[in-house]
Amino acid sequence: MACLLRRTIAAKLSRTLQQPEELLLPALSAVPVFRKQQTPDFKLALSVLRLNGSLPTTGDIQLQTEDLTRQLKPDNVIEDISAGSGAINFTINRKFLIQKLLEPFGNSDATFGLNSELLNTLNRGTTLVEYSSPNIAKKFHAGHLRSTIIGNFIANLKQALGNKVIRMNYLGDWGMQFGLLGAGFTQFGSYSKLKDNPLQHLFEVYVQVNREAEHNDNLRQEARDFFRKLEEHDTEAMSLWQRFRDITVEEYQHVYKRLGVYFDVYSGESLHQSQAQEVVEQLQSRGLLKTTEKGTGVVDLSISGDMSNVCTVLRSDGTTLYITRDIAAAIDRKDRYKFTEMIYVTDKSQANHFQQLFQVLSGLGHPWAESCRHVPFGLVKGMKTRTGEVVFLEDVLDEARTRMLHNMSQSKTTKELEDPEDTAEKVGLSALIVQDFKGPLHSDYSFDWDRILQAQGDTGVFLQYTHARLCSLLQKNEDLEAAHFDPSLLNEPSAISIVQHLLRYDEVLHQSSQDLQPKHLVNFLLKLCHLTASAHRELPVKGSPAEVAKARRRLFKGSCSVLANGIKLLGITPVQKM
Ligand code: ARG
Repeated sequence: MACLLRRTIAAKLSRTLQQPEELLLPALSAVPVFRKQQTPDFKLALSVLRLNGSLPTTGDIQLQTEDLTRQLKPDNVIEDISAGSGAINFTINRKFLIQKLLEPFGNSDATFGLNSELLNTLNRGTTLVEYSSPNIAKKFHAGHLRSTIIGNFIANLKQALGNKVIRMNYLGDWGMQFGLLGAGFTQFGSYSKLKDNPLQHLFEVYVQVNREAEHNDNLRQEARDFFRKLEEHDTEAMSLWQRFRDITVEEYQHVYKRLGVYFDVYSGESLHQSQAQEVVEQLQSRGLLKTTEKGTGVVDLSISGDMSNVCTVLRSDGTTLYITRDIAAAIDRKDRYKFTEMIYVTDKSQANHFQQLFQVLSGLGHPWAESCRHVPFGLVKGMKTRTGEVVFLEDVLDEARTRMLHNMSQSKTTKELEDPEDTAEKVGLSALIVQDFKGPLHSDYSFDWDRILQAQGDTGVFLQYTHARLCSLLQKNEDLEAAHFDPSLLNEPSAISIVQHLLRYDEVLHQSSQDLQPKHLVNFLLKLCHLTASAHRELPVKGSPAEVAKARRRLFKGSCSVLANGIKLLGITPVQKM
């Protein structure tokens, strides 16, 4: 395993440098593989050792590198040690490297890389991830879709790394829109339509009542009345609201299931109205609440105290706002779940909102505000379905499935499938997800169905295709499955490249766990697919001498299993056939 190899190198260095292994490990990393070029396996960055005090910071770094390289002598395991630029390169004995790395795949190993030294250095605890969080009766836009899949990835990753994870959906289920919806439903609503197609019907009513309210004073008054009734917990008003909420959650659960996403908790703004009032009182008693000329209640967050950056927590009519409920919700979650960290996933337009939220929490004397984090992402431009702009999540999923099904029917390589619709759904979804995860989350991108569904190129379809191909290869050669294999029979560059690439898996997960960006993993997996495609061409299993075939099968097993594990972390279900 990668970790074992890192340990071996660290132990050697530790003796020469007279420094504990723990300090040396962070400076060691697997060398990225380049096509058609031999590379060492690991490198030790001297800059890191200088920073953590393991090496003197004076003198020329290159001379230091060469000097240290000379002091380290190769042995049976580390065969070659050479000086690179500012780094020492290590090459592991080929047979040993391949043996250690592919050993775990003798049985199906879903934990490959997860128990590494590197990942064991991470703190574990309870992670609360809040994502998706659509608004009842409003559009489920591309931003909600992004939040859903990104949050799901973060939750999967944190869980795989040994944390207890709470997956939370924070519904937009309170506010003036429910006044409008309540008033509107009495006029334009129908219970039977609500039953047949709840999300659609609620949205229609909402659109209609908004249009009507523009020129209808009575309706606006009715809406205000209805919302006041809700705030006063009037039984009749509440029961209608509850009904809207229940069927919405039920519908969403159904669609999330198609996406492979689930939540432990369906929370929402409505749950924190009274606590929000308490928050206002706390702010007041701490002297943090200021009243503006307009009569609104604000917290001054400016450094100089000149009200140049304020957070409004109270309207002039005494009602609370989105942020006030967020403050209350955060405190409630800390009490309830005792999280070690909390992660919010929304588009970047809310970055300021979350910054203010964390600042107010600190101001209220909650040091754990430091362990809250906002993961912002950019806009998706031009995501459309046959029916036009995205309004419902289900439409996007249907569109992905239909288009993929069409592409599959055109392809000559499509196999006889038991359930082509299901395969198309899974592959279509992976196309959506990979496109979304490839770049930095912060960037905006333009959506293009044709591009994301290409079978060639760096797409989710390519990931699935490679996985399915590997599955079929393994299956066809099931008789070669064996506990032992001869690593010396895997000496071709394309085999070594895969092995070297797998050495990086835990580093990639580590990197993602730090910046919460899925791109490291996506790009790692895409590269694994490219390397696998070359190996597939160059290293036939069928028709090779039995021992060679056995060793090659083991190589492909390793690649298939890491591919499957990685794909699952991304929130994609790998397909066996396509
Ligand atoms: N419902 C909000 C929206 O659609 C997102 C909620 C984000 N989470 C939060 N705790 N404020 O914009």
